Amino acid sequence: MHVVMIGTGYVGLVSGACFADFGHTVTCIDTDADKIAGLKRGVMPIYEPGLDVLVGANVRDGRLSFATDPAEAIATADVVFLAVGTPSRRGDGHADLSYVYAAAEAVGRLIRGYTVIVTKSTVPVGTGDEVEAIIRRVAPHAEFDVASNPEFLREGAAINDFKRPDRVVVGAETERAIEVMRELYRPLYLNETPLVVTGRRTAELAKYAANAFLAVKIGFINEIADLCEQAGANVQHIARAIGLDKRIGPKFLNAGPGYGGSCFPKDTLALSRTAHDMGSPVTIVDAVIAANEQRKLAMAQLVVQAAGGNVAGKTIAVLGLTFKPNTDDMREAPSLAIVPALQAAGATVRAFDPEGHQEAKKHLTGVEFASGPYECLEGADLAVIITEWDQFRALDLTRVAALLDDKLLIDLRNIYGFEDAAKAGLTYRSIGRPTHEAPRAALAVG
Ligand code: UDX
Repeated sequence: MHVVMIGTGYVGLVSGACFADFGHTVTCIDTDADKIAGLKRGVMPIYEPGLDVLVGANVRDGRLSFATDPAEAIATADVVFLAVGTPSRRGDGHADLSYVYAAAEAVGRLIRGYTVIVTKSTVPVGTGDEVEAIIRRVAPHAEFDVASNPEFLREGAAINDFKRPDRVVVGAETERAIEVMRELYRPLYLNETPLVVTGRRTAELAKYAANAFLAVKIGFINEIADLCEQAGANVQHIARAIGLDKRIGPKFLNAGPGYGGSCFPKDTLALSRTAHDMGSPVTIVDAVIAANEQRKLAMAQLVVQAAGGNVAGKTIAVLGLTFKPNTDDMREAPSLAIVPALQAAGATVRAFDPEGHQEAKKHLTGVEFASGPYECLEGADLAVIITEWDQFRALDLTRVAALLDDKLLIDLRNIYGFEDAAKAGLTYRSIGRPTHEAPRAALAVG
């Protein structure tokens, strides 16, 4: 099949490369000429493990190409995906759909023969109806259907998520469109991926419901972590204890400094606004949004408290700035709230992130960037782990202690244990775990 991606951002590029790898012929379109020129030379506009190799191989095999002008590709396309950005509209948190609508109009003018136009961008319920109306207006006689096919890709694991998804959701209103979408995803039948076929509005809302539910799960475990600190209980053990219940599931129960990224903050807000407008508020999601914002700031207070109530004049080594590991994405990262708050409290912040420096420099001021984790720690008073990159999981803690003047390690991702840190001579503070646990409190699942 011939597939066109309108928008070669994160979702468009990963999806395009993966569809090409399935054997389809894919053209990725973007208005950003520099980005397209770079991709033609093999330069990836984002950091995503394995993407450069996947793109390179499919370009070489002639299944994947890039262009700024969509005319030629759309004329022969079976499926055109709209994968343009839907940022939060400034001021009200609604998803800004202007790029989606502009793309729909452009596509409408260019389609020839039966084409399925698919929204892959996360769009509020009802957007497909509007896309259909726009195309009908500019191309009254065109043969087309509009479908919804939300993505569930995690940054850093996007290729695997695309190729081995838990499910694929397709929302469409005609059998003809459903058949085209089935054909497109046929390679996934081999591993028996469930294809959930539903109405278009349902598919649109399902995406928001999925992300909001995961955000609620994180918000919930973070509040339980706070409670654990008061109660002398261990949140990791609670996550295990409840996660083994199949109705709850073990994933997304890691307490931390709050969720960030390009999806959860934006999508929860957009869902909240839509629900409010429709007179059916999602109060649980509203509470999680507020708690998550508050949490990021509370993390800076936690650091100050752990440092004895005052960080003025201290140098704080920050390990990890991106909103999670294996990405250079800084959007809504907890570090963007924590670092400025520590600076405002009078601390000097020195940071190291394996991939995030370039993006971080756009958002943070007055931060010194170190060339590695130990360089970051050298001569600092205390250290804070904000993002759980693999290379921070196996630090030589004795060396860490030797490099830090106050011998204080604050671990906002719970990647170390109290005993190992204490053995290395560190004062250790983590999230939702007692600072010291009797051996009988160690977790054992038999
Ligand atoms: C998410 C969804 O997982 C994906 O399906 C959707 O398409 C886009 O949004 P992503 O934002 O890439 O993906 O990252 P994810 O791994 O879900 O993590 C989001 C945030 O939640 C990160 O800040 C992460 O640190 C945080 N998180 C995640 C926790 O704090 N605890 C957890 O247990 C899991």
